[in-house]
Amino acid sequence: MNNNMIIARSERALRGQIWEWRGLGETIAFVPTMGALHAGHMSLVEMAKREADKVVVSIFVNPTQFAEGEDLDSYPRTEEADLALLDAHGADLIYIPKDGSMYNAHHATSIKVGGVADGLETDHRPTFFDGVSLVVTKLLNRVAPDIAVFGEKDYQQLATIRRLVEDLDMPIQILGAPIARDDHGLALSSRNQYFDAEGLAIARRLNEIMRHCALQMERGENVDVARDIAAKALLTAGFSGIDYIEVRSPNSLTVLEGGILNGPARLLVAAHCRGVRLIDNFPVEPH
Ligand code: PAJ
Repeated sequence: MNNNMIIARSERALRGQIWEWRGLGETIAFVPTMGALHAGHMSLVEMAKREADKVVVSIFVNPTQFAEGEDLDSYPRTEEADLALLDAHGADLIYIPKDGSMYNAHHATSIKVGGVADGLETDHRPTFFDGVSLVVTKLLNRVAPDIAVFGEKDYQQLATIRRLVEDLDMPIQILGAPIARDDHGLALSSRNQYFDAEGLAIARRLNEIMRHCALQMERGENVDVARDIAAKALLTAGFSGIDYIEVRSPNSLTVLEGGILNGPARLLVAAHCRGVRLIDNFPVEPH
């Protein structure tokens, strides 16, 4: 590690270093991840670097946010490559809690965010945000940063964390980072590495079809009509199923009534391609 990057594998080592930095008056920005890092994660690290003196990144594949039958066991674990990437991007401390040290045998506390966390993802992954909210609360308590950065790629997750932090009076500023995409517009994701060339080509149609859908709504097309056209286009392109295509208000994620948009909205989608579930979202800004 040429950047003097610190790797903390225990809570004690983490807290000791944070304590030292606090004593020196350094500000701290935190980027939680599940590893298998890519340029999307690095854009969060870059944002964190701009906003604080020290950047802490955690790598933890959180079991409580995976449901039975999801890819917990096969989720890509690429620690060596992750550390090299983080070092090259100037992260200061990487927290890698040991398996089993996050939830002890007596753990009995749950955290349930309502409102923004209801619907969309929750209709298809009922306990997902419970797991995310729990681990993010624990990580924020352990790291105690000034700022934490989350990606707009997981738009409902970002909204859920904002709600959680405000509701539980955590003195932490939450920043949202724009979605990092490949040259074809596909949102970067750790799960993209599951695709073969053909799957990748289909996956890349998602953003094209949804951008067109957003454009139609901006031009005054009825929301339900535009969504139906997009759904058919996805299935024709080779997607095997669609969990949702929804248009919501951009901050509270409430359902918009009326059919024709007359203010900013967010288009959110989850669809299946070759056994991989893709999520993405787009701003809709009627003129
Ligand atoms: P993970 O999927 O590893 O993502 C970590 C962070 O990187 C999240 O804030 C996510 O939104 C962001 N991110 C991923 N791909 C991105 C992209 N293409 N552009 C911008 N940001 C991107 O999300 C999680 O982990 C977990 O749920 C976690 C919050 C760590 C809790 O376990």
